[in-house]
Amino acid sequence: MSNKILAITGPTSGIGKSTVIELASEYDILILLCRNVDKGESVKQLIQARHPYKRVDIIKCDLSDLASVMQAATNILNRYTHVDCLINNAGVVSLTRQKTVDGYELMFGTNYLGHFLLTHTLFEKIMESEDKQIIIVSSGAYKYTAMGNHNFAYPLKFNPVKSYSKSKLAVLYFMQELDERFSKHGLNVSAVHPGAVSTNLGKTKYNKKIGDFIYKVFDSFFISPEEGALSTIKVTKNRTLFNGKYVYEGKVVPVEKYGLNYFQRKKLIRDTLEELQLDQFMYLNNNY
Ligand SMILES: NC(=O)c1ccc[n+]([C@@H]2O[C@H](COP(=O)([O-])OP(=O)(O)OC[C@H]3O[C@@H](n4cnc5c(N)ncnc54)[C@H](OP(=O)(O)O)[C@@H]3O)[C@@H](O)[C@H]2O)c1
Repeated sequence: MSNKILAITGPTSGIGKSTVIELASEYDILILLCRNVDKGESVKQLIQARHPYKRVDIIKCDLSDLASVMQAATNILNRYTHVDCLINNAGVVSLTRQKTVDGYELMFGTNYLGHFLLTHTLFEKIMESEDKQIIIVSSGAYKYTAMGNHNFAYPLKFNPVKSYSKSKLAVLYFMQELDERFSKHGLNVSAVHPGAVSTNLGKTKYNKKIGDFIYKVFDSFFISPEEGALSTIKVTKNRTLFNGKYVYEGKVVPVEKYGLNYFQRKKLIRDTLEELQLDQFMYLNNNY
């Protein structure tokens, strides 16, 4: 199949930006899914400065707004025959209590639900490609909290660590579910933990000061965005080796603690389908 196509969320900063710049030579078409298209244009210019003839398409996608996610996914469905690799990289950390457009807690709604809907809608295009690959950027923070029973209710007591951890546990469960159901049909899906990386994560307009402070104080403990992108890049190049695995520092590491809770995973997936009013897990026309 000609035209290898990569789609990536969150390519405008930090790990995602380093990832897409490094991977540009491996794909014929790069689809940058950005909430801020001006920032996307700057990344496009950076890429084309190195690869003048590379096709780079920018599609607006705000993962904290399910209508925007559907619009972005529909654009992709209409414009491309397939997507070889989808990297669900975008993420948000908020130290303050905030909601998505649709009323979900911001981190859970953006990091998990937005990506779930995007992947669900694009799934057929991924399965029609040669590589059939999905990479999910999770975090070691998935270990810090259990999923609990009330997945979608806006939390009455807001705890930023719990909310972020929950979103990253949810994406890890999502990877496991995709692997369980579709690896036998050729899907290559992996989750990565990039490490502690010096990026813009956590520096929203509400918590920029504290974000800057943390990165300054703990600077020596953080790796660079280029280093943080290494696991994602390695996985794209070795998709069968890392299929179904959780990867850190370029190596497979065991999933621990809450990440192993099969029943919580099944409940989360059931509840997600109900919440998003989807009648099946991942949309496919063919009978897989
Ligand atoms: N940094 C770390 O130490 C660390 C550790 C573990 C896991 N991670 C994970 O790594 C991933 C990348 O984070 P990063 O550290 O590179 O942070 P970053 O520099 O803040 O980059 C985050 C990216 O996500 C995008 N984004 C945020 N909210 C969005 C939304 N509502 N819709 C669409 N895109 C949105 C941002 O867009 P804008 O450019 O418009 O802001 C940006 O491109 C995240 O999933 C994060 O959870 C990071």
